[in-house]
Amino acid sequence: MLSPEKNELLTRVSPGSEAAELMRRYWLPVAVSAQLEQRNPMPVTPFGEKLALFRDASGKLGLIADRCAHRGTSLSAGAENVKTAGRLAPNGLRCPYHGWLYDATGQCLEQPGEPRPFGDKIKLASYPVQERGGFIWAYMGPGEPPELPPIDAFAREDGVRINTVGRWPCNYFQVLENLVDPVHVSVLHQDTDFDQAKFQAIPTLNAEPTRWGLKTIAGRPGYEREVEFLFPSAVRLALPIMDPGIMLAFWIVPVSQTETLSFHAWFLPLPADMPAAEREKKVARMKAFIYELDDSDPIHHASKVNVQDKFACYSQGEVADRTVETLGRTDMGVNLLRRLYFAAMEDVKAGRDPIGVVREPIGDVVRFDNVF
Ligand code: FES
Ligand SMILES: [Fe+2]
Repeated sequence: MLSPEKNELLTRVSPGSEAAELMRRYWLPVAVSAQLEQRNPMPVTPFGEKLALFRDASGKLGLIADRCAHRGTSLSAGAENVKTAGRLAPNGLRCPYHGWLYDATGQCLEQPGEPRPFGDKIKLASYPVQERGGFIWAYMGPGEPPELPPIDAFAREDGVRINTVGRWPCNYFQVLENLVDPVHVSVLHQDTDFDQAKFQAIPTLNAEPTRWGLKTIAGRPGYEREVEFLFPSAVRLALPIMDPGIMLAFWIVPVSQTETLSFHAWFLPLPADMPAAEREKKVARMKAFIYELDDSDPIHHASKVNVQDKFACYSQGEVADRTVETLGRTDMGVNLLRRLYFAAMEDVKAGRDPIGVVREPIGDVVRFDNVF
């Protein structure tokens, strides 16, 4: 049970809030690369900030405030078919209203019709972006961005990867708590691919801090399942529903107090010498899991497991009231996550890098071979 103040501390993500200040110290996905192919420029709203994500005509990515400095028109929200979308230029994004042009740093480069342009004094807010592993990542914190750890599920190339995104109608911290709660798998996920001997027994549970955040260890007869949680809001787990199992890493990003995105990288390692027919069969099996309920949209996954997880989270309320909960031993991961969050918020306030921020270059893929 938490005090109202502590519940607020974990759940508020508006500008300046402790949780947002913490989460913005890390690279986070803002879009699946394929989304930007479908719509460029694209509106995104991490932490409720209205931003325009774009790839200019020369291929450079930009993430800038979605409000033209001239008279406030959106640079990304319009529609292509009626020519109200921002216009892509070789060196930036042009406002659809009067054509002011901004580069990827938000610098205004042109102001058509102004007899004495003053664009050098105009700069929109902007954030560093990079594209890796099928996602577009942004760093929205202060100072020099840290490293983006190349987690195996989005950084490995020896297999097939599918990137998807999902929307949750509730506060982000409920979603995080679900990720460090392996006990629910045996109950909530009945009548799914998890409904097999491996997962039926209620597990014994342990949770330990790690260099990245924490891990949970769920012990069932013949199978000890580890799940890694990486600060501020990522999880690396395995779906051992086939052999080899599917590696899954996903990142949780608040877009408001009561709405959350989850960006998923599903990776199936496949030996290069695997016969093509077998390969196709395995990929089809992975897709059958990801798009179980609707296979019409490759960017948005629709599995029964995900629907069950969502229900468990959003039916707690848009923002769960942790002043009236009743935690037990099986909530060990939830308790540890909250403790680490409070400690990391203190680190940020004291000017220290919080847990999991890496400054030295990481050359090799970060492998979680303990997760299977
Ligand atoms: S409002 Fe953007 S150029 Fe006028
Ligand atoms: Fe679940």
